[in-house]
Amino acid sequence: ALKRASRSTSSCHLGRRSYSSESQPERKVAILGAAGGIGQPLSLLMKLNPLVSSLSLYDIAGTPGVAADVSHVNTRSQVKGFVGEEQLGEALEGSDVVIIPAGVPRKPGMTRDDLFNINAGIVKSLCVAISKYCPSALVNMISNPVNSTVPIAAEVFKKAGIYDEKRLFGVTTLDVVRAKTFYAGKANVPVENVNVPVVGGHAGITILPLFSQATPKANLPNDEIKALTKRTQDGGTEVVEAKAGKGSATLSMAYAGALFADACLKGLNGVPDVVECSFVQSTVTELPFFASKVRLGKNGVEEVLGLGALSDFEKEGLESLKPELLASIQKGIKFANQ
Ligand code: NAD
Ligand code: LMR
Repeated sequence: ALKRASRSTSSCHLGRRSYSSESQPERKVAILGAAGGIGQPLSLLMKLNPLVSSLSLYDIAGTPGVAADVSHVNTRSQVKGFVGEEQLGEALEGSDVVIIPAGVPRKPGMTRDDLFNINAGIVKSLCVAISKYCPSALVNMISNPVNSTVPIAAEVFKKAGIYDEKRLFGVTTLDVVRAKTFYAGKANVPVENVNVPVVGGHAGITILPLFSQATPKANLPNDEIKALTKRTQDGGTEVVEAKAGKGSATLSMAYAGALFADACLKGLNGVPDVVECSFVQSTVTELPFFASKVRLGKNGVEEVLGLGALSDFEKEGLESLKPELLASIQKGIKFANQ
């Protein structure tokens, strides 16, 4: 079964029942913030994933309806909705993967850091509950600002004595999804064959796509690479502006979140060579957290991969992002220890 499953590590096979769910281990996935703009389509996509046996949908309101709706889809997992803090423990207990899209999204004119004051507290309290009810789950942090919420989670887990750097992930998959889409358009190559690593963090210039390593090779001129880099860095803002006050990316984020959670589940199940970019504890640079390619395995992070060869433009981008990324990391650490 694992041999067959390994063929479907590619991101395009979401929900495809290409192998029997009976041969797959039981896996519980919890989504915190499941009734939100990301949470609802993400709940549906995780319901379509044959690696999930139990799907736990938690929010402060609205989850009974979302759970009833999604539960009618005729796929493997059993779905349960949980609402309000008193049900959070039950929602989390036994989870293998916890996905967190809880918190407020941006409006036009805001930076992700402007969300810190509200979302930092939400993430902190959810991570306290994770420490208590499912301390060995893999945590997929979507809530912004990811550059700060991941360090907050790490500090909360350290205080609870359960921190394992292999189990905490900032979800930066949407940056990769965007870089692949934009590159395929410019390079005029089939998007399903495209790979582009995106490193650094998840906000503005801290998002650093490595188009020099993009495949298939296209030898795009420098001005096009610069424009592609800027569009990838501003992808979130492009959606925020288009939604004109009605939030940020939800559908593409749900897709990206489902891809990343699927990769985590495959890693847990022992599928070899599952590699995705993620914002994790890292020694790739001098910064304590950094997004780069990560090999996923039975314990979460199996290996944080290095950056590879960078172009001069990427080297400059890397140096310019470090002060902002470090400040966001330190802000998260300080908040968690107040
Ligand atoms: P939304 O407002 O539509 O949904 C958020 C949900 O979180 C709501 O249902 C709300 O009830 C819930 N929530 C609030 N406090 C909670 C708590 N204490 N416990 C559980 N649930 C709680 O927002 P959205 O568009 O789904 O975005 C959610 C977050 O994801 C935002 O912070 C946004 O910036 C972030 N985001 C991240 C990425 C990324 O690439 N990492 C991409 C898009 C959005
Ligand atoms: C994104 O990249 O779409 C998210 O981080 C949401 C945002 O605020 O841009």
